[in-house]
Amino acid sequence: MKKLVLLLLAALLSAPQLRADKGMWLPSLIGSRIKDMKAKGFRLTAEDIYSVNEASLKDAVVLFNGGCTGELISDEGLLLTNHHCGYSAIQSHSSVEHDYLTHGFWAMNRQEELPNPKLYVSFLVRMDDVTDRVLKGVKDDLPVGKRDEKIRSNIDGVIAEATRGTRYKADVESFFYGNQYFLFVYENFTDVRLVGAPPSSVGKFGGDTDNWMWPRHTGDFSLFRIYADSENRPADYSPDNVPYRPRRSLAISTEGLKEGDFTFIYGFPGTTKQYILSDEVDYILNRSNPHKIGLRTMRLDIMGEEQAKSVATRIQYASKHAGVANAWKKWQGESKGLARLGTLENKREAERRFQQWADAHPAYADVLPQMHGLYAELAPYAFARDYYAEAYGAVELTRFASRLVRAGAGQREAMAREFYKDYSPVIDARIAKKTWGEYLRNVPQEFLPEAFAQAVAVAGGVDAAVEKLFAESRLTDSVRFAAWLSLDEASRQAALEADPAVAMAAAFDGVYLERIAGPYRDLNARIAALYRVYMRGLMEMEPDAVFYPDANLTLRVSYGRMEGYKPLDGVYYTPQTTLEGIMEKDNPDIYDYDIPQRLRDLYAGKDYGRWAVDGTVPVAFLATNHTTGGNSGSPVLNGRGELVGLNFDRTWESTMSDIEFDPAKCRNIAVDIRYVLFLIDKVGGAGYLLDEMRFAR
Ligand code: ARG
Ligand code: GLU
Repeated sequence: MKKLVLLLLAALLSAPQLRADKGMWLPSLIGSRIKDMKAKGFRLTAEDIYSVNEASLKDAVVLFNGGCTGELISDEGLLLTNHHCGYSAIQSHSSVEHDYLTHGFWAMNRQEELPNPKLYVSFLVRMDDVTDRVLKGVKDDLPVGKRDEKIRSNIDGVIAEATRGTRYKADVESFFYGNQYFLFVYENFTDVRLVGAPPSSVGKFGGDTDNWMWPRHTGDFSLFRIYADSENRPADYSPDNVPYRPRRSLAISTEGLKEGDFTFIYGFPGTTKQYILSDEVDYILNRSNPHKIGLRTMRLDIMGEEQAKSVATRIQYASKHAGVANAWKKWQGESKGLARLGTLENKREAERRFQQWADAHPAYADVLPQMHGLYAELAPYAFARDYYAEAYGAVELTRFASRLVRAGAGQREAMAREFYKDYSPVIDARIAKKTWGEYLRNVPQEFLPEAFAQAVAVAGGVDAAVEKLFAESRLTDSVRFAAWLSLDEASRQAALEADPAVAMAAAFDGVYLERIAGPYRDLNARIAALYRVYMRGLMEMEPDAVFYPDANLTLRVSYGRMEGYKPLDGVYYTPQTTLEGIMEKDNPDIYDYDIPQRLRDLYAGKDYGRWAVDGTVPVAFLATNHTTGGNSGSPVLNGRGELVGLNFDRTWESTMSDIEFDPAKCRNIAVDIRYVLFLIDKVGGAGYLLDEMRFAR
């Protein structure tokens, strides 16, 4: 144990100059990077980034609604995040009369700010290395299940102690596959009100066409305000609550960056898998991604065709289409990037080197062969699981049916209202024919639900079986649903149990739970246990190498610089876009590129006020920071720790960075803070909000 701790410390603290900017560093250990950061343009100290006793930059950064990042930009609780992070809140306040998605929303005073009952933000209070306590009494020879149980109970103890008598929440997260554990203590605020959002034609400018791409011109931001009780403590919504006074807020720099200038990002990256074996890369590259991409292409084609036929359907499926397209496009970029980098071969080569070393280190000699064996066992379950999620899960009706069965009688009407509002049985049935057909064709017999196979046999094919199901189910539209709901309790229950959509859902869910999920989980637990040993071996083999932990939705710092890149031979992408590019793309006939008239007018009159830079307005920029999903909304800071931008995406050529980071090509995309301010001030007419912000010098 001692030796391992020393090894980990050495790995985390040794600071040879890293060529690349890859890495998502733990703020409490950032001291190990400060020398490198300073050499690259950082002007502050480790304590400015993270301190438990003094206010530090960490106090200005929040986990936004459990999946994005946000930052405090005033001492009165004003919070900045992405438009796509605030999207569901903005949507929930929108109606035909008040269409805030289309026209944007600006509270013109505190009274107009809109509460969001489900929204919350989490501040990190502190983080501590609790490895010794989590691994206390955990003997190396414990079988995997027992080991996990012991760890779980130790973790529960750590959490209970950290939160006892406080209003805090806590989590313990594993790092380096269970070689290290950290405790994270959070304070959650639940009264978070919507302050402003640009129209979607700005906040989603470029839509799915520009998503994951450069050059980019999306004004992807929204503003919220955190409220607290009179003692500045978290409290659920109350009209008596007052704006939260943060320990720290960010100063804004309107100076902008030049190519090469230092940048760092503070935020909550979700998941990366830098240390996975070639087996998993092989699976992702050659099995999972091609199938998942293919299935989503079918869905997107069908949605697109039906959306083109009616405006109502286009609106109903806008958010669903965007959701499906986002990962679909990312996976394609990821596969291309992995192939281009030769990640599979690089991993195999690294594993050969490890094995050579391990042959002389008995504790590690068997690790890789065992892992390869388990991965081979895992593959069919992983594949069936992918199909369960992406083929069966693509169909809305059966998923709704299974939720309905589990819901209490009192919830059903509300669930149905929400479901049918944005539902097209025509799209859904067409998708079911395609994706269930693929399930039948590609998934081995043993994972085929009997009831599904039988329905297909009886009807004489998947298409006919789907048609029959959609014809007979009582759940395909709100009229049928209302008729079902008006039955007496006993008939209602009987009809639900007999409904073919419910039966089909039960058949797929049953096979998943009984034959797929269990083995998948158990094999993964055994693989994870071996990753722990493998990871320790890697560190022992290369004691001078710098290892950084995979992302796991905990607070991280990544640093780099503003920089363009070469996507293709002969092409260089410069790192800054401007309003000129928006006007080049502007097209009232194309939904994704139809900007608000107000923006056209401002452009025509060159009416940029104090936001003019070289006769235009800066819009977005590229930097080399290592980011991933969850970093959306993260502050991009300059060397003095001042806010210069808001992270919202990566480029298409970067998306394999969750597995292998390529310093030559990987770039994150940020909206320039000056564009945000210009939009608030000149387009939103909410310039009064600037009065509470703090501007550097
Ligand atoms: N690609 C970004 C992310 O992964 C933005 C997604 C939202 N925008 C969109 N057009 N779907 O979250
Ligand atoms: N848009 C992503 C998010 O919502 C960030 C893009 C990425 O994956 O880097 O977190």
